[in-house]
Amino acid sequence: MPAVEAKGARIPLAGLGTWDLRGRACARVVEQALRLGYRHIDTAEMYDNEREVGEGLRASAVPRNDVFVTTKIWPSHFAPRELLRAAKDSLVKLRMSEVDLLLLHWPNPQVPLSETLGALCQAKEGGMARHIGVSNFNTVLIEEATSLSTEPLVCNQFEMHPFLDQSKLVAACRAKGMAVVAYSPIARGNAKNDAVLARIGREHGKTAAQVCLRFLVQHDVAVIPRTSKIERLGENLSIFDFTLTDAEMSEIAGLAHRDGRIVDWSFSGSPKWD
Ligand SMILES: NC(=O)c1ccc[n+]([C@@H]2O[C@H](COP(=O)([O-])OP(=O)(O)OC[C@H]3O[C@@H](n4cnc5c(N)ncnc54)[C@H](OP(=O)(O)O)[C@@H]3O)[C@@H](O)[C@H]2O)c1
Repeated sequence: MPAVEAKGARIPLAGLGTWDLRGRACARVVEQALRLGYRHIDTAEMYDNEREVGEGLRASAVPRNDVFVTTKIWPSHFAPRELLRAAKDSLVKLRMSEVDLLLLHWPNPQVPLSETLGALCQAKEGGMARHIGVSNFNTVLIEEATSLSTEPLVCNQFEMHPFLDQSKLVAACRAKGMAVVAYSPIARGNAKNDAVLARIGREHGKTAAQVCLRFLVQHDVAVIPRTSKIERLGENLSIFDFTLTDAEMSEIAGLAHRDGRIVDWSFSGSPKWD
């Protein structure tokens, strides 16, 4: 599995998103994904499925050390003591001694970032996480977070797909040596209805969703598409056996538009995206 490297972390380029997957269905999808070759699983305290993610991993018989597991702390737990307790709770639910990547899920302007980052660094130093990072941080917050953190922040996870131009934020992350992980990478399934992606896909014997994911990984952006359907797991992983031409990459980049954002960040009270 190709990976993106950042500050000592090696993040597999294709992973499985698990938001909204629950109970036995979640455990089954995770197990099957790992059997099929996925080596990167994305979960979060807020998804209420860490227990099942852990179960799926153990049922797959893939060694724990071969899988890159990410979880995230919800902003209401950003006060230092709360953060450390939330991280511990996640590990208990996952039945793991550490995660590979522990992220701040969304910015929380109510708690000083320096305090939250201090606790996140402590979680890493205490062996709860091999690496730490952030999610949904804009360019201003990336600057602030990297200057405050005493441990390397290896990635920023945010919404990214061809319908949304995130080039400024990608550049800001790369300038700080951070990897980019794209969430909602097939635009919550909308990619499959796009005529340009479908046409390019036909040229390569691929689906529109595969072209969408390929576009991102070809930019060295890790993707974590979610599916509840076992039959789609293979489709979303088969993106490393073809290459988009420069002209195709430009045409796909041209699909970005002003209203391309899907995920509503406003509830978080965090500063507007750039
Ligand atoms: N950090 C954050 O704040 C944040 C926010 C959002 C998401 N995430 C993470 O990113 C992951 C992915 O994002 P997402 O779940 O928002 O959206 P997504 O992965 O872009 O899209 C998921 C949707 O696409 C459908 N789908 C999956 N594969 C498909 C295919 N090959 N062809 C057509 N449709 C397909 C799925 O339906 P079926 O189930 O029917 O296949 C599902 O409805 C999440 O699960 C979560 O782990 C993080």
